[in-house]
Amino acid sequence: MLVAEAGFVEIQPKILYFGTPVVLVSTLNEDGSPNLAPMSSCWTLGWTAVLGLTLVGKTVENLCRGMECVLNVPGPDLWKAVERLAPLTGKFPVPETKAAQFRFEPDKFGASKLTPLDSELVSPPRVLECPLQLEARVCHIREMTGPELQSIGGAAAVEVSVVRVHARRDIVHGERYIDPARWQPLIYNFRHYFGLGRELGRSFRAEV
Ligand SMILES: Cc1cc2nc3c(=O)[nH]c(=O)nc-3n(C[C@H](O)[C@H](O)[C@H](O)COP(=O)(O)O)c2cc1C
Repeated sequence: MLVAEAGFVEIQPKILYFGTPVVLVSTLNEDGSPNLAPMSSCWTLGWTAVLGLTLVGKTVENLCRGMECVLNVPGPDLWKAVERLAPLTGKFPVPETKAAQFRFEPDKFGASKLTPLDSELVSPPRVLECPLQLEARVCHIREMTGPELQSIGGAAAVEVSVVRVHARRDIVHGERYIDPARWQPLIYNFRHYFGLGRELGRSFRAEV
């Protein structure tokens, strides 16, 4: 087929968030209070997760110091709470690159109307309303080198090791599975929130 007939155009999209689950990362501030930040550049392999975080945020500062976090995974019903957190930063003063759109908020749980719940192995609290909560410890932080990342103050790839998983009882199947028919992530799709559509099929390795 000729390239001209294939139906594609070359574009330079301003953002490349092509649809990944939202995670609310809880960390501890230097005074021991909790910070909570939405992010979506997160993936897992085994019990290891990698987080892509801008260096100007409070979350990355807290991770470098405290080396612990909880990855709280919300369902679609929590999108409004996530969006309440969206214009906030725990960093004071607000970094210049964010000053036009963000404001400082020391009480992110209160501002989002989400409830802190004690963790078992790490210091930052979990988010009660999130059906999946992964307690984790930082094992590696690497600065990312993409040239366009410099304009937003740089970014880091933070590798964390999950040390405990909490799942709300109603999404658990048997002893060791999350039931994909009852669990749904909240998807951040080019800065719009979506749930999942209906199931299309199962992988040859699906066990439930
Ligand atoms: C749904 C959603 C996803 C986001 N994903 C990321 C992300 O993957 N990485 C990142 O650095 N910031 C992401 N952000 C922006 C941060 O939440 C924002 O910079 C926030 O101010 C960070 O808070 P903090 O400074 O208290 O850490 C996302 C925001 C929203 C609403």
